[in-house]
This record gives sequence, structure tokens and C-alpha cells, in this order.
Amino acid sequence: MDAIENLTHRVSSPKIIDPGPSEEQWEILMQSALRAPDHGMLRPWRFIRIEGQGRVQFGKLLHDIKQHEGAEQRVLDKCLKAGLRAPLIVAVVAAIKPSEKIPSIEQEYSAAAAANSMVLAAHALGLASIWRSGWACFHREVCTALGLSEQEKLVGYIYIGSPAMGTKQVPDHELSSFVERWVPR
Ligand SMILES: Cc1cc2nc3c(=O)[nH]c(=O)nc-3n(C[C@H](O)[C@H](O)[C@H](O)COP(=O)(O)O)c2cc1C
Repeated sequence: MDAIENLTHRVSSPKIIDPGPSEEQWEILMQSALRAPDHGMLRPWRFIRIEGQGRVQFGKLLHDIKQHEGAEQRVLDKCLKAGLRAPLIVAVVAAIKPSEKIPSIEQEYSAAAAANSMVLAAHALGLASIWRSGWACFHREVCTALGLSEQEKLVGYIYIGSPAMGTKQVPDHELSSFVERWVPR
């Protein structure tokens, strides 16, 4: 796919099926993510693959946390299915490094840029993907179970696999709704 066509037509896929990316596709996804803008070359990212039986364990982890918090059955059922929505889930971690020059927020932006590069590369490869967050992105117990340190943060889960549906329509955007020219006073 043409690079500009990919940028202007990327869409997410709420429904994703098997198979997941091949090893060759995975290599491309990662090489794309690792080209994210990175102030100070701190490489403030880590990527955790959740796949196979790990997806079931991930759902169970969410389920057990919510059960402990007294959530209703509907929520618990949703937790159990969370890992099974795609053949591969990539937890994208902002691996924030100590730096006097680069604030942690910039490092989070960089990790988010890496996640975005991953969804763009997935689209270019004809794969289906969606960036999800939700409570499981911000819950300390989930982060700890995934092996994050206190300094690290999850910027999202990228669900990746094959498309289940035809191409989604891309909305037309009116640029003037989003862009203005600065007029110095
Ligand atoms: C940081 C971040 C978190 C997101 N979390 C969720 C989520 O938890 N659930 C969801 O359905 N979409 C979530 N989205 C939005 C989807 O990834 C997607 O962009 C949205 O469904 C619009 O579809 P489109 O990308 O095809 O325009 C999130 C997006 C971002 C950038």
C-alpha cells in the first residue's frame, strides 16, 4: 500500500480473527514501532506479547481483580473474554528512564507514537488492529502482573490479527475544524 494512502486511510478493527501476524510481519511491526520519535534516544518503550494460553491467563487476571473488587457478573464475564478478542495483544509500555533533560511525559508520548506506528504498520500489511486501554491499562495490579516497574506505564494494548469484516469507511474531515493560523497580537 502507498505510504500516504496508508496514513490517510488507516482504520481500527473492533472485530479481529485468526491468524495473528507471521514472524515476518511481526518483525515489520516492531521495526516500525522502534522508529518512533524519541527525544534523547532514551528508547522509552517495551512491548509485551500476550498470546496463546497467555490470553486466557490475562482474562483471568482481569476477572480476579474485578471479582475481588466486587464487580457484577456482566463485568466479570467481559474480563474473561478480554484476552480472546484477537490472536495477539501487544501491551505497549512507556519504560520511563531517569533523565534531567527529557520529562517523563515526553517519554510517554514517544511510547504512544510507537504504538501508533504499530497500528499503521499493521494496516499497511493488511492486518486488523485496534488500540485499546480501559481500566486494565491503569490498574497497578495489572501493571505489576505484566512485570512493569513502578516507573513504567502502559500506554495501551494493541490487538492484532486478521480482519473479520470488509473495509471500514474513512470519515471525511473538514480541515478548518481542526486548523487555524496563528495571528500574533
Ligand atoms: C490511547 C487510546 C486508547 C483507546 N482505548 C480504546 C478502548 O479502550 N476501547 C475502544 O473501543 N477504543 C479505544 N481507542 C480508540 C480505538 O483505538 C479507535 O481509534 C477508535 O475505535 C476509532 O476507530 P478508527 O481508529 O478506525 O478511527 C483508544 C484509542 C487511543 C488512542
